[in-house]
Amino acid sequence: LAKILGISASRRPRGNCETSVKVVLASAGEGGADTDFLRLTDFSIEACAGCFKCIRGDRRCPIEDDLYALLGYLDGTDGLVLAAPVYFLSPPAVLVGLLDRLLTVGQVCGGQTREKPAVTMTLMGNREWRGVTEPFVNLTASLLGFEVVRSMRLVAEGPGEIVTRDDVIHELEQAGLDLAGGAPDAEEVTPELCPVCRSDCFRIEPPSIVCPICGSAGDLMHYVERQEFVGRLGEPRWGLSWLDKHIEAWVRPSIERYRDRRKAILRAMGRLKQHRGVKSERGNADVR
Ligand SMILES: Cc1cc2nc3c(=O)[nH]c(=O)nc-3n(C[C@H](O)[C@H](O)[C@H](O)COP(=O)(O)O)c2cc1C
Repeated sequence: LAKILGISASRRPRGNCETSVKVVLASAGEGGADTDFLRLTDFSIEACAGCFKCIRGDRRCPIEDDLYALLGYLDGTDGLVLAAPVYFLSPPAVLVGLLDRLLTVGQVCGGQTREKPAVTMTLMGNREWRGVTEPFVNLTASLLGFEVVRSMRLVAEGPGEIVTRDDVIHELEQAGLDLAGGAPDAEEVTPELCPVCRSDCFRIEPPSIVCPICGSAGDLMHYVERQEFVGRLGEPRWGLSWLDKHIEAWVRPSIERYRDRRKAILRAMGRLKQHRGVKSERGNADVR
């Protein structure tokens, strides 16, 4: 029995992300899968403290919050459904907060479980305002150890409005059935997107366009003339081998360099001591 986990990265309980995930799960359930659902905002995920303890010793993040409880839900999962909304052109804070914490997780599960499929959905009010959210949704699914087989860009404005879009509902249901049926083939990536991470945002570095997420470099003129990304593919920056290389080649040496210079850095910082930072008396606000 395939076990499929659905995750919504929106705080709206009857919003479009949650509704879309549940449509996929319902269909996967009808296809014989065992399904589970969670809302990321129901888990307390603190901001990364930048301590790099996750690359030392037992490689466990020392922050005591719900990160490992959340990851526990992924154990034994055969497929993932992940949806996030575009909020001000970017991914919602809860998704980025999780992503910041995944250096440690990427080392543990990245590359090892990537044959397990993920279907992702990026929800937006307006295609022209889609910003940069989709590649981050896919990056999160990949860092969690899944291979994105389908990345859906869905337009729906008011909470839950997606249920009125019959064409989309049909697609979501099909995605659920495919997941329940085992490892679905990855959909073909349309030619104007980065072939590795499906990003449609590129840096222009003549004569190339470069995907800022994975480093794939395509021919600029070919893209202008034919709207096709053709060139050198980047390495996904979340697989086990890439992360290991990155940590050994860059992160560890940078920590050693910092240690050598720490005293001088702290001395130079002395004159900044009077700026202690203003604290809020109210703490976190909640929505009733
Ligand atoms: C605070 C806020 C900011 C938003 N910013 C954007 C945006 O920049 N671009 C866009 O296309 N839609 C934007 N939207 C619309 C949402 O992406 C859209 O309604 C989506 O379906 C929300 O999913 P949800 O109901 O699961 O939260 C925004 C919505 C909110 C509440």
